[in-house]
Amino acid sequence: MRSAADFNRLYLERRDPWGTDRATRRDRGLAKVIPPHVEGKTVLELGCGEGHLTATIFSKASWVTGVDISAVAILRASERRLPNATFVDQDFMGMSFEGRDVIAALECIYYLSLEEREAFFRKLAKEHRGTFIMSAPIIGGKYFTHEELLETFNRYGLGLINWRNVYAYRRPGVGGLAASVAARVPLVRDAVVALWPERFMCHRAYVVRCG
Ligand SMILES: C[S@@+](CC[C@H](N)C(=O)[O-])C[C@H]1O[C@@H](n2cnc3c(N)ncnc32)[C@H](O)[C@@H]1O
Repeated sequence: MRSAADFNRLYLERRDPWGTDRATRRDRGLAKVIPPHVEGKTVLELGCGEGHLTATIFSKASWVTGVDISAVAILRASERRLPNATFVDQDFMGMSFEGRDVIAALECIYYLSLEEREAFFRKLAKEHRGTFIMSAPIIGGKYFTHEELLETFNRYGLGLINWRNVYAYRRPGVGGLAASVAARVPLVRDAVVALWPERFMCHRAYVVRCG
């Protein structure tokens, strides 16, 4: 796991280090899968960063507790003064997962080591009764593959409700060029992202039932 100091350094180097405020393609993809599962619900948003998704994708939740290991990110998230959210700087592995309708972990679990990921899913299965939503690059390596994730959900007795491709990754080469061109045409873009072969995929979101 990367430390609070590692993440604080990234956030101090520049605001919005991953460009999430400008990631409109990602927002559009996430908006197609997440809001129906969070409207009117209490949400624990793990790795919330500066609160971009709290303010957009989770805006219809009844209450969001955003948690991030970086105090710098949490200060900036708090400055948004969202009416339905509070923010806490803490390592999410050290906090209780009990008592929320939804736990969301968008683009943050892959910072955990393989052993820590196992501990994360064990803790989730033990403590959470409700919906779990995650998104991540599905490109293997230090990230995930679709099969690995399905096997992990299965092993911890978590029931897959649905999954969706969020957007196609623009890799170099012919596939990347095609994705790049297709991404500029709204109707084609959605069809391409839905059918894109896994080796070109970047982000996929999963909705899972726990307990
Ligand atoms: C790539 S950013 C994603 C931010 C946000 N979820 C999004 O998708 O826009 C990853 C965030 O996870 C946070 N993070 C990583 N490991 C964490 C941990 N163990 N506990 C709390 N936050 C963590 C980092 O500080 C960082 O803000």
